Amino acid sequence: MVETSTQQTDISPAPEQGAGKDSKKVFVKTYGCQMNVYDSTRMTDVLAPEGYAETTVIEDADLVILNTCHIREKAAEKVYSEIGRIRKIRDARGADAKPMKIGVAGCVAQAEGEEIMRRAPIVDLVFGPQSYHRLPSLLKSVAAGEQVVETEFPEEDKFKHLPAAKSAVTKARGFTSFLTVQEGCDKFCTFCVVPYTRGAEVSRPAGDIVAEARSLVAAGVKEITLLGQNVNAYHGKGEDQTSWGLGRLLEELSGIEGLARLRYTTSHPRDMDDSLIAAHRDIPSVMPYLHLPIQSGSDRMLAAMNRRHTRRDYVELIAKIRAGRPDLALSGDFIVGFPGETEADFEDTMSIIREVGYAQAYSFKYSPRPGTPAASHDDQVPEEVKSERLQRLQELLNAQQIAFNASKVGDTMDILLERKGREPGQLGGRSPWLQPVHLMAPDDLIGTLQTVRITGITKYSLSAELIAPSNANAA
Ligand code: SAH
Ligand code: SF4
Ligand code: F3S
Repeated sequence: MVETSTQQTDISPAPEQGAGKDSKKVFVKTYGCQMNVYDSTRMTDVLAPEGYAETTVIEDADLVILNTCHIREKAAEKVYSEIGRIRKIRDARGADAKPMKIGVAGCVAQAEGEEIMRRAPIVDLVFGPQSYHRLPSLLKSVAAGEQVVETEFPEEDKFKHLPAAKSAVTKARGFTSFLTVQEGCDKFCTFCVVPYTRGAEVSRPAGDIVAEARSLVAAGVKEITLLGQNVNAYHGKGEDQTSWGLGRLLEELSGIEGLARLRYTTSHPRDMDDSLIAAHRDIPSVMPYLHLPIQSGSDRMLAAMNRRHTRRDYVELIAKIRAGRPDLALSGDFIVGFPGETEADFEDTMSIIREVGYAQAYSFKYSPRPGTPAASHDDQVPEEVKSERLQRLQELLNAQQIAFNASKVGDTMDILLERKGREPGQLGGRSPWLQPVHLMAPDDLIGTLQTVRITGITKYSLSAELIAPSNANAA
């Protein structure tokens, strides 16, 4: 049984950008959530002034960085098998080749620290998510032959030490960008490692975020997704020196000319305040799509997970948001087989899915994580029960996703065209509800918003036709 985990990335770098002949090369592989995707981009920003160009060819790299995820056991284990593969590549280069240094970053680095060097002595550098702005000095120690482990949570704000976001927009990913506004989590759900790997909640000042957004838009970005482990807990210092919530921040960003779309992820139900709900109602560039995980439909499980909200709180919250924005589509995360979950608890999860209706969702078997409270519960659910429940849950979620996509056939909507499609003459983009859409259109429309009519669905995407073909400057 394969978990549905499209939210979790496992991506290699975008194509190389004109590296100088003598420059060093870095290969970054990213696992885990969008925050890691953003961090990887920023790592390459930090390394660019040090003479490192990004490469997609691991065999050519002077430095390989694995930006890792610790959220479930499988995610963490992938890192060690990847290190084994890199070792073979490095050894195949022979003794005369230039040396290849290997760094492990991200949440496995934070959680396991020196243990990584013990299990994989080939690793030169281990650094946590709070330390990547220190990469140049860490690499100096590595060059001097040291094995370096840096997993402190420094007092200083890493964002202040980062160069302007440039590779974030020069990469082929193009017209959409992530922008981290908040990091860390104080919620301590009993299954989750994030509060341990990312630390306490910290929000960036609004002025810095607005400046970064402006530079992204100036470089051609049309859609920004604000990121945070708990993004709607955002409480940064505003430009008027008061504390701003996410609703106020979205209002400010919506004033940036040329920024057509705003999204944010991931949110906690307890932090959806009235100003954020109002932002969905009042700001047209805030897209009608919300990733709002509930994890379980059973109040007994929600309490054991320390989610600090009930099923009823969640249902009422969604009704409130939909009252202002009736076309809101929801996405969620679900965990099956949390310790002590009975068949009746699981049925409650199936019933909340039926009640709410999801456009898209991620679902996982509970994975005990070292150091988290739920891992030591003695009523763990057997693996085969978890697998069987996950299968039933995913059948329901898949059916809902297909039904949601089908409900759009015949509709007219704006699509942000982001890239060439698989077939010649085809372009791909996203609907307001984050659905992948493909249609026949000229290449010069890439990077524009176009009004289209949805003509059909394939398994998880939509096909469409341009309504009034226009030129690239139309958006
Ligand atoms: N901050 C986000 C989610 C972070 S992790 C939030 O609060 O929603 C992404 C998802 O991974 C979680 O929503 C949860 O569904 C899943 N997850 C986290 N820890 C897990 C574990 N130990 N086992 C299985 N799934 C887990
Ligand atoms: Fe993990 Fe819960 Fe924090 Fe989300 S809210 S990151 S699930 S502890
Ligand atoms: Fe994974 Fe860390 Fe993100 S554990 S999901 S990479 S915050």
